[in-house]
Amino acid sequence: RIVYLNGEWLPEAEAKVSVFDRGYLFSDAIYEVTCVLDGKLLDYDGHSARLKRSTGAIGIKMPVDDETLLSLHRQIAEKNEMTEGLIYLQVSRGNPGDRDFMFTDDMTPTFFMFTQKKNVIETKTGKNGITVASVEDLRWGRCDIKTTQLLYPSLAKMEAHEKGADDAWLVRDGLVTEQSSATAYIVTKDDVVITRPLSHEILPGITRASALVIAEKNGIKVEERAFSVDEVKAAKEAFYTSASNFVTPVTAIDGHPIGDGKPGALSLKLRDLYIEDRR
Ligand code: PDD
Repeated sequence: RIVYLNGEWLPEAEAKVSVFDRGYLFSDAIYEVTCVLDGKLLDYDGHSARLKRSTGAIGIKMPVDDETLLSLHRQIAEKNEMTEGLIYLQVSRGNPGDRDFMFTDDMTPTFFMFTQKKNVIETKTGKNGITVASVEDLRWGRCDIKTTQLLYPSLAKMEAHEKGADDAWLVRDGLVTEQSSATAYIVTKDDVVITRPLSHEILPGITRASALVIAEKNGIKVEERAFSVDEVKAAKEAFYTSASNFVTPVTAIDGHPIGDGKPGALSLKLRDLYIEDRR
């Protein structure tokens, strides 16, 4: 792969960052994942806006302007001949030259991007769904900022796997916040899609924003409110959204089948509508 790092295009083995980088020592970094489909960037405006919001929230200066950022996205997909897959980008506060909890506002950020070729349309999970396990949400209080502090979501997903499920639905005060790296939804018996409202407790998903608009455009009712694990068990359907998985059905939680335990009709329809709309 050809990787972008601080203004240079490099073979991946040559893209190196200092051990003193605050991204490495303090997870002092913001990231984004944008999907490429048919050679086109999906929901690019949403991802670039969230990147600026996240870097702004922790006071990291964006190392490039808007035009350059878009051009880099296009160039990295082209250079790696990727027409379907993901672009990962990360901006850390940079390398102060020594380990120090304090930082100054004149630091030069470390900025890199790489691609991951991946089939995003024809996926097993898109068709068959996944199962989830509920795991306590022990993340920090600003989950709306897309930082690289991903240790807890990673441990939660491992715990879910140990329990025989594919992923974790995180639970705070008895209510589902989100999936380890995606937005969570249920569908009620009367076909209302329910998802948690935006707050500091969840990431404002870019796919969430698009999926809700597409749902409403197609006459699907949406209600933004928190829901409990018991409501998930009693729901007709469940699904999740993320840039890398679009709309994907969820068929069981903690070993209880959701609905008939098969991917729900509305979930699959919303997946098709989302893909159709983006193409
Ligand atoms: N994850 N919630 C969390 C905690 C996430 O990490 C993500 C994205 C989402 C969905 O956001 P979006 O629709 O903008 O992708 C929700 C990315 C894909 C990742 O970490 O790889």
